[in-house]
Amino acid sequence: MKRIRCYLVGLGNVNRSFLRILEIKGERLRRAYGLAFRVVALADSSGVAVAAAGFDPAAIRQAKEAGRPVRDLPGYQPGVSPAALMETLACDLVLEASPVNLQTGEPGLSVARAALRRGIALVLANKAPLVLAFGELHRLAQTTGAGLAYSATVCGALPVINLGRRDLIAADIVQLRGIFNSTSNFILEQMAVGRAYAEALAEAQQRGIAEADPALDVEGWDTANKLVIIANSVLGVEAGLADVTVEGITQITPAQLAAAAAQAQTIKLVAQAQRQTDGSYRLSVGPLALAEGDFLASCAGWEMGIEIHSDLYGRMYHKIWEREPLPTAAAMLRDAVNLFANA
Ligand SMILES: NC(=O)c1ccc[n+]([C@@H]2O[C@H](COP(=O)([O-])OP(=O)(O)OC[C@H]3O[C@@H](n4cnc5c(N)ncnc54)[C@H](OP(=O)(O)O)[C@@H]3O)[C@@H](O)[C@H]2O)c1
Repeated sequence: MKRIRCYLVGLGNVNRSFLRILEIKGERLRRAYGLAFRVVALADSSGVAVAAAGFDPAAIRQAKEAGRPVRDLPGYQPGVSPAALMETLACDLVLEASPVNLQTGEPGLSVARAALRRGIALVLANKAPLVLAFGELHRLAQTTGAGLAYSATVCGALPVINLGRRDLIAADIVQLRGIFNSTSNFILEQMAVGRAYAEALAEAQQRGIAEADPALDVEGWDTANKLVIIANSVLGVEAGLADVTVEGITQITPAQLAAAAAQAQTIKLVAQAQRQTDGSYRLSVGPLALAEGDFLASCAGWEMGIEIHSDLYGRMYHKIWEREPLPTAAAMLRDAVNLFANA
């Protein structure tokens, strides 16, 4: 049995769902994979707490759901930041699910650097550290031999990164298109049937699907973040946000949606990577009117999807229905098991 000492950074929708998975699948993980996950440290916006013998996952989840911050938990360490704790903590795995901050990447970026520098495995749900420092983090991981995985950062539990890296050996991707943000997809669908924009967004927030700053969803940046991660990890392109043309859905009106419907079309927020003759890619995010028979037009409400056209593997179409954060937390678990089960 391998004991995996875990540090959970962020205790919001995603990492609370991760705790829930440990509650219901802990025994299965021990039996089937020989892995015993023990939560030895926690961080939220109020601070950090440490328990070398391990916290009870159910007790922490329930405390957070009851509104108790980490600073009220046993083991609270006053004045210690999440990254400072990472410099000295005895742990094997960091599960980083703090909010996206595209300006500084913090607190996730410093935590990520500190973990990888020490050779400690890192699983990210937070896209910002990868969007801002993809190459740096990968070089660090390579230098120290630390595990680094982030399948949860792109389309929740849909294994876009995994299949792109593992299952498209030697392929040249000619075109890739996707719907990567279910909040904006849901809003557009609901607006098309007469619901108010604000009401649909409020439902996405209440379900724990929207970003902490929902402007990231509706202005297209969350989709662009995912496209940047795909570009770097699957297309082999060193792209950043500055390389993506980004337009969101905030200017889309009910009248435009109705006009599209009258022509058997539906408006979606679409990410695209189009290979150019010189081997580079044109990257864009923006609303597109799609014909009803289009695969992406079939991604309804809480669905996200991707189609990948490559020279070797034909045209692949994948989609997922995800209306709560549990599948994203499961993607973090999948990454963790893949890093440790065969190590
Ligand atoms: N929700 C989804 O379905 C989903 C899907 C894929 C990826 N993601 C990504 O996963 C990450 C987490 O999402 P979420 O929905 O769980 O977010 P969330 O519910 O807003 O939770 C964020 C957590 O981070 C904590 N936090 C905020 N600032 C912090 C700081 N400076 N130091 C330490 N902790 C801090 C918050 O603390 P408090 O509890 O004190 O507020 C909260 O516990 C985001 O990066 C998001 O993009 C989410």
